Amino acid sequence: MSHGYQLVTWTPFKKRYDQFLVGVVVAGIAVFGGVTFALNPLANPVQVLMRAFGLVAIVLLHVILAIGPLARIDKRFLPLLYNRRHLGVMMFALAFIHGAIATFWYHALGTLNPFLSVFLSDWGSHPGAFPFQAFGAVALMILFVMAATSHDFWLANLTAPVWKSLHMMVYVAYALLVVHVGFGVLQAETSPVYLGILATGVVILTGLHLKAGRTETAADASVASPVESDGFVRVASLADLPLNEAVSACLNGDRVAVLRYEEDGVEKLSALSGICQHQNGPLSEGKYVKGCLTCPWHGYQYQPDTGASPPPFTEKVPTFRLRVSDGDVFVHPTPCPAGTRVEPVTLN
Ligand code: HEM
Ligand code: FES
Repeated sequence: MSHGYQLVTWTPFKKRYDQFLVGVVVAGIAVFGGVTFALNPLANPVQVLMRAFGLVAIVLLHVILAIGPLARIDKRFLPLLYNRRHLGVMMFALAFIHGAIATFWYHALGTLNPFLSVFLSDWGSHPGAFPFQAFGAVALMILFVMAATSHDFWLANLTAPVWKSLHMMVYVAYALLVVHVGFGVLQAETSPVYLGILATGVVILTGLHLKAGRTETAADASVASPVESDGFVRVASLADLPLNEAVSACLNGDRVAVLRYEEDGVEKLSALSGICQHQNGPLSEGKYVKGCLTCPWHGYQYQPDTGASPPPFTEKVPTFRLRVSDGDVFVHPTPCPAGTRVEPVTLN
């Protein structure tokens, strides 16, 4: 992690981001309510409110899922990443209100336990009925686990890989919600417009993820080179390495940050994992700031020779052995255990 590195003016930016978010959510609910009552003055206010919360939540979920690939495709979207967790918690809160209203409105007054009723009542309720609410409820449970573990406390205690795997469940929740919303909309709507909007959202998100994947694969392929007899791999020409900015190389599927940096007037070269321990951000696109390679996403820092964060922080990433011959930089693809010191190559 970092002592003082701040990529954005942290607190005012966060506050503006959150205020903007609350404004957008309130406006979204108001617009949906206004348009619904304008078109149908007899609409039931509870149902309108329930639908408004559900809709704003699903729109926010699309925004959340689009931010990751957008930030990989174009760095100008990076600032949106900083508060993505606030966005996630807000989205969960909206989805929860929607689910709570629906559970109360449709299930609280029957003989069956309302929570069981959410899962059971759609089955065979009418010909062609589909248990769409069960899909929404399971998705809501996943979103709850994610919102509850979103704080850095959980990231530190669960470890980054476990936390990341847990939070990848958002895609399972999204798939469940596409089914829930698709069939949920059909309960009240005969117009294909809603389904068209949902399908457009799915297509845009899939397209963005494919494009981001292709961009990264192309970047990785462009730096792959043949293996030398001693197992090292050429990753770049020394002349092409900028000072104090990492360059990304892909070795055996591992992304590696190759960093040429100046320490106490001496130019050095080190290689360490290109994947940040915080949220798997692109450390290989980081800069050398105050003696450390600094992740561009949230500023976590790692000492180039050990891959360890400066004390008192405890994050560590693997390091890689490297050498320079005839103006070319070679890295050994086998990572050293996280935090292992590898003597940097001295360049002058
Ligand atoms: C316990 C969990 C849930 C229950 C019981 C539930 C229930 C319902 C019901 C009954 C409908 C049909 C509403 C209508 O009459 O039009 C519906 C639609 C919908 N739900 Fe859920 N839901 C749950 C979770 C979620 C979650 C987690 C999300 C999104 C993050 C969500 C988003 C939506 C959306 C966007 C619609 C379509 C709204 C519309 O018809 O305009 N739901 N849900
Ligand atoms: S600092 Fe958050 S991903 Fe690197």
